[in-house]
Amino acid sequence: MSPVLSVRDARKRFGNVAALDGLSFDVAPGTITSVIGPNGSGKTSLMNLVTGFYQADSGSLRFNGVELRGLPPHRIARLGIGRTFQQIRLFADLSVLDNVRIGAERKGGKGAQQRSHALLERLGLFHARDWPAQALSYGHQRRLEIARSLAAEPSLLILDEPAAGMNPTEKRDLESLLRDIRAQGITVLLVEHDMDLIMGVSDFVVVMNAGQTIASGLPAAVQSDPAVIEAYLGVRHEVRHEVRHEAR
Ligand SMILES: Nc1ncnc2c1ncn2[C@@H]1O[C@H](COP(=O)(O)OP(=O)(O)O)[C@@H](O)[C@H]1O
Ligand SMILES: [Mg+2]
Repeated sequence: MSPVLSVRDARKRFGNVAALDGLSFDVAPGTITSVIGPNGSGKTSLMNLVTGFYQADSGSLRFNGVELRGLPPHRIARLGIGRTFQQIRLFADLSVLDNVRIGAERKGGKGAQQRSHALLERLGLFHARDWPAQALSYGHQRRLEIARSLAAEPSLLILDEPAAGMNPTEKRDLESLLRDIRAQGITVLLVEHDMDLIMGVSDFVVVMNAGQTIASGLPAAVQSDPAVIEAYLGVRHEVRHEVRHEAR
């Protein structure tokens, strides 16, 4: 099957920093594909390139065969790519319902209100529809951002660290929400730090380091890849080991 998203040799510099240094990978349709990597490895830059918030210096980013480079964010959104942000971007003073309705109206057509209600029910936020968005817990604000993206009915949903700041219950709910989204036929590109979530929910994992792909494959295979352990997981294991050592 042809990939939904195909990134080839993407490069992006900020001054002296090569945020993306020849990144290539594919996202297969209907999958949850996760991107992991240490802080500063270029994950958010990648999301910003795919959604048109930044322009790549070179390389190609194709969505269902359509080159995204050069397109502005609203055109890319209309092609069917939705996103959430690492820093939550809601309309804090607007109601929960209005936040979702804005997403639904972007899609256009009739029934924005009805679709928004249905989404809020599905995501367990209907009871809070009249609250200002800022009255929600942090985890629920992240859920609301996902609801707003889904309201525009994307075929590819990009989530930048959706579990950040969530408690264990909220993380479990997020995991089942992601499965539910995938079951609807929406492809998910997930950037996350939480390894339990990644390993539990991903069909495919791409590991980045210094703006490049250093490994990719099934979660279990990636987890035992020596390059990954060295660049990323190894640091965590070491930390855990030290903690255990100290506790003794
Ligand atoms: N708008 C920007 N201006 C300058 N440097 C940036 C900008 N965005 C990202 N960078 C730099 O690019 C590198 C990759 O950052 P980022 O994509 O945010 O990584 P990650 O999301 O993996 O933590 C970092 O060195 C970061 O400082
Ligand atoms: Mg980031």
